[in-house]
Amino acid sequence: MNNNEIGVFDSGIGGITILKELTKLLPNENFIYYADSKNNPYGNKTLDELFSIVCNIVDILLNRKVKLIVIACNTATTKCINMLREKYKDVIFVGTEPAIKVACDNNYKNTIVMATPGTINTERVHQLVDNNIKENQHIYLLPCEGLADTIEFKTDEDIELKVNELLKQYKNKNIDSIVLGCTHYPYAKKYISNIFPKATLIDGNQGVSKQVKRILEKNNLLNTTNKKGKTQIIFNK
Ligand code: DGL
Repeated sequence: MNNNEIGVFDSGIGGITILKELTKLLPNENFIYYADSKNNPYGNKTLDELFSIVCNIVDILLNRKVKLIVIACNTATTKCINMLREKYKDVIFVGTEPAIKVACDNNYKNTIVMATPGTINTERVHQLVDNNIKENQHIYLLPCEGLADTIEFKTDEDIELKVNELLKQYKNKNIDSIVLGCTHYPYAKKYISNIFPKATLIDGNQGVSKQVKRILEKNNLLNTTNKKGKTQIIFNK
């Protein structure tokens, strides 16, 4: 048993979509969420820039003695998780990746993967496609330049415009599923569904929470008190 906090971070409000699932699944745990709005968007940073930003956050969380760190960001995960595991050998990291496997396993035929340019350009995303795609499936990888920062900083109207601009090219492609490969994108669900009302929107948030629970159980790190846990949010503006 371990009552220390679980650290969670993202470039702002995106990872809160994961934090919600985590607090539902693990109500007794204490969470510290670091919203790094100041450095948003992560999707346009070079690897060196992003790694240094992320190490800084990991150090802040480790100073609070967190027992596990959730990278509630697809960009930071796909670009940096291997380097983080290399640098912080004793720390347990749980990452977030575009749920491409879920789309393929559920036999959707035409899937758009929406993610930041940083995520789309990683080898990991191409691996996820190659390892899971079946013969009769099409996957369109869409780098959504500017969408995460529009969601972080701008109005609903701006978000709707941006979503329309990015997705209009797929209107005649019989899209039946859309992978939300950035934790900011669930905030734009209604605009995405307006364009593709029949498509299923897939995010990996529940999968991440279940993975956190499994790892805590396996390592005997669950908070076993009966009290409801606390969540604190640090905003880096
Ligand atoms: N929410 C993040 C992700 O899942 C990062 C968005 C950004 O800052 O570009 O990719």
